[in-house]
Formats: sequence, structure tokens, C-alpha cells
Amino acid sequence: MLGRSLGTVLQDGDIICLSGTLGAGKTSLMRGIAAGWNANERPTSPTFTLVNEYHRQADAQRLFHIDAYRLNSPEDVCSTGLDDILAAYGVVVIEWPERIREVLPVDVLWADIQITGDSDRAFTFSARGPRSQQILSDLKNRYTG
Ligand SMILES: Nc1ncnc2c1ncn2[C@@H]1O[C@H](COP(=O)(O)OP(=O)(O)OP(=O)(O)O)[C@@H](O)[C@H]1O
Ligand SMILES: [Mg+2]
Repeated sequence: MLGRSLGTVLQDGDIICLSGTLGAGKTSLMRGIAAGWNANERPTSPTFTLVNEYHRQADAQRLFHIDAYRLNSPEDVCSTGLDDILAAYGVVVIEWPERIREVLPVDVLWADIQITGDSDRAFTFSARGPRSQQILSDLKNRYTG
């Protein structure tokens, strides 16, 4: 439900970074985001494709789901075209964002996912700029209100 709430408040240009160890729940959170955003499809893990793109009925907006796990350098980011996606209009959700830290814009919403038990997770959000602060405050209103 957290992901869904987040998905409803996102707009073109927003960047969400999902940080957490293997199996923390990054892709699961992305599925919630996509559902809240009204994506036409349920996301699969982009581990081998690096990036998946989703659409929705309501408008021409796009949602990108990036898995940076296999990327090691800023040069990789350019050669795979991720720099174009980061610069393009759309919502961008990134798993393993620490792998491409050097090329990320400043104003991202960073989510840290901690495994706190077999079926328990703790989510810590940090807003790194004004737009991210707005997203976080919209999320709080949605999620708690
Ligand atoms: N919010 C949650 N609460 C409890 N369990 C969860 C939650 N989110 C995910 N899980 C469980 O954690 C497991 C891994 O989830 P997921 O594939 O989303 O992790 P991931 O962080 O994307 O992993 P990877 O690093 O391999 O990409 C799944 O079995 C899922 O059931
Ligand atoms: Mg994953």
C-alpha cells in the first residue's frame, strides 16, 4: 500500500531511488508504485533488460524501471542509454541506485529498505531536493490520511 500511495503522487520528471540488499523488496515496491500510477502492466524485474518502460491509459506519460545492479561506471550509464532516460520526461524508478550515484540528478527521493524480519520491512525515505520534499509530504498525506 505504501508503493501504491507513492505511485499516485508521482509526476513527470520524478526520480525514485530504491536502495536495499538482495531481496529487500525493491521490485515489490516498484509493483506498488506502478499500480498506484495506473500502469497498464505489472512490472517484472529488469535485471537482464536494465530498463523497462510502462504506459498508462490516461495520458502519454511514461514510467521507467531501471535495474543498475550490473552497471559499474558512469561510462556504462552512457553506453546503455540510461543518461538519455534520466534526462527525458517521465517517472524513473531505480533499483541499485548507488551503482550510478555519479550520474544521478540531485533532487531524487531516496528510499532505503531494511529487512527487519521474514515478512517485515522498514522503509526510510530521504528527500534530496525541493520536488522530493513535495513528493514525501504528498505521500505522508496519502498514506496516513
Ligand atoms: N513489504 C514487504 N513485506 C514483506 N515481504 C516483502 C516485502 N517486499 C518484498 N517482500 C519479499 O521479499 C522478497 C524479495 O522481494 P523483491 O524481489 O521485491 O526484492 P528486490 O529488492 O527487488 O530483490 P533484488 O535485489 O533481487 O532485485 C519477495 O519474496 C517478497 O515476498
Ligand atoms: Mg529487484
